[in-house]
Amino acid sequence: GPSGPKICCLGAGYVGGPTCAVIAFKCPDVQVTIVDLNADRIAAWNSDSLPIFEPGLDEIVKARRGKNLFFSADVDKGILEADLIFVSVNTPTKKTGVGAGFAADLAYVEAATRRIARVATSSKIVIEKSTVPCRTAESMRAILEANSSGDIRFDILSNPEFLAEGTAISDLMHPDRVLIGSLQTAEGRKAQLALADVYAGWVPREKIITMGLWSSELSKLAANALLAQRISSVNALSAICEATGADVDEVAYACGLDSRIGPKFLKASVGFGGSCFQKDILNLVYLSESLHLPEVAEYWRQVVSLNEYQKLRFSELVIRRLFNTITHKHIAVFGFAFKKNTGDTRESPAITLVKHFIQEQAFVHIYDPKVEQSQIEADLTHPDVGTLHQYKNYVTIHTCPYDASKAVDAIVVMTEWDEFQQLDYQRVYKNMNKPAFIFDGRLILDAKKLRGIGFQVEVIGRQA
Ligand code: NAD
Ligand code: UDX
Repeated sequence: GPSGPKICCLGAGYVGGPTCAVIAFKCPDVQVTIVDLNADRIAAWNSDSLPIFEPGLDEIVKARRGKNLFFSADVDKGILEADLIFVSVNTPTKKTGVGAGFAADLAYVEAATRRIARVATSSKIVIEKSTVPCRTAESMRAILEANSSGDIRFDILSNPEFLAEGTAISDLMHPDRVLIGSLQTAEGRKAQLALADVYAGWVPREKIITMGLWSSELSKLAANALLAQRISSVNALSAICEATGADVDEVAYACGLDSRIGPKFLKASVGFGGSCFQKDILNLVYLSESLHLPEVAEYWRQVVSLNEYQKLRFSELVIRRLFNTITHKHIAVFGFAFKKNTGDTRESPAITLVKHFIQEQAFVHIYDPKVEQSQIEADLTHPDVGTLHQYKNYVTIHTCPYDASKAVDAIVVMTEWDEFQQLDYQRVYKNMNKPAFIFDGRLILDAKKLRGIGFQVEVIGRQA
């Protein structure tokens, strides 16, 4: 068997699964066990159809599963056997109580921490992989120390994850950096080195950076806030472009050539989605408010407000162009995932847009190449979105984009899936109601060509 350290990961989700699969793949000496309270999710990880879609994930899981990579619902056994334990559980925005709507719900992190304290019979290095507010490691330490027995010791590290969904495997294989925070004590540095040695199995040492715990925790929130802020900035410019005749793609290109700005994350869109950006910024807003820094809180809050405005602006554009009413009209929604190459729909802008369409009593025809029908139903019947009655009356899920766009008045592109660029739009046009509208919420279609076919094309950040 493997002779290196044993790793256990609590949480077999979008982060725990891919991250630990890559560790197992790159470090055959390390035994990796991923555990979860959700036995169905574990069963799926052990099956032929993994619970999440990520390009390249299947291959690496299948290469290492049963060798040095294990998925198990036996959380306690995983904890008992491990030297290093990743805590990669969910940290959603709190729904009720103090900080509701802003603060991170740390109940899962705390439950996982208490479980480690209760079960462990030997010393452990406990690693925060979840995104957590600044100083969470201190709470974890207090819980571990108050609940552990005898002479076992716990060292706590912060090791935030920077992968993006859709590119998780390549992000993990070739990270820009790996960040490890620890207490600046001899034991803290020793633990830091133990984790750095795992990553050094494939990441160049100079990319493994170390710092104090609080800087490391805050860096994760900061990185997401800065990335999301760029998108809200370019989306704010898109509104100016639409009003002036400037083209947001050209403006972003011109600005991105400045090496101080750089070209990435300047793509205007219907708005950012995903489980992280909004949650982490709201977390930063909450942190700022708790620290009595209202101006700082307001600054970051505006990144989220602008994103809400962008989604609203886009659904209003659809309604306005469709002669100010979409009641009982048919609208095809191309893409439901929050970005391409993932089946994840958390905070997807498509949910908000479809909600608006249904409230106007439009019939919505959804096509996404990767999102499960059951997921779309769950999202659209969530109490904040709509009822089962509305869903049954107004929503149809399609498995083919040509069927989805048959006899509709408009197509709304919500996700930048490559296949939307390759469709036979002559065929699509022929089967649509006229005038046939396309609203490109991702700036991926060739508007000129579509206009040549006869479409009315509306693009974010560009005048018609
Ligand atoms: P997820 O919901 O997909 O997975 C979390 C899993 O943890 C769930 O399967 C849940 O059943 C399990 N779990 C909860 N409590 C547990 C416990 N006590 N013991 C064992 N398992 C438990 O979440 P995710 O998207 O993987 O995110 C996890 C964390 O990583 C969050 O803090 C998130 O902010 C952060 N993060 C996410 C991403 C991303 O792209 N999704 C990127 C970077 C960081
Ligand atoms: C993000 C961070 O990128 C990642 O580092 C962190 O670990 C988790 O959060 P993720 O949410 O998975 O990753 O995807 P990302 O590529 O950042 O996209 C987030 C949203 O922003 C998507 O809806 C995407 O379509 C949108 N986006 C992204 C834009 O609208 N314009 C851009 O230029 C880039």
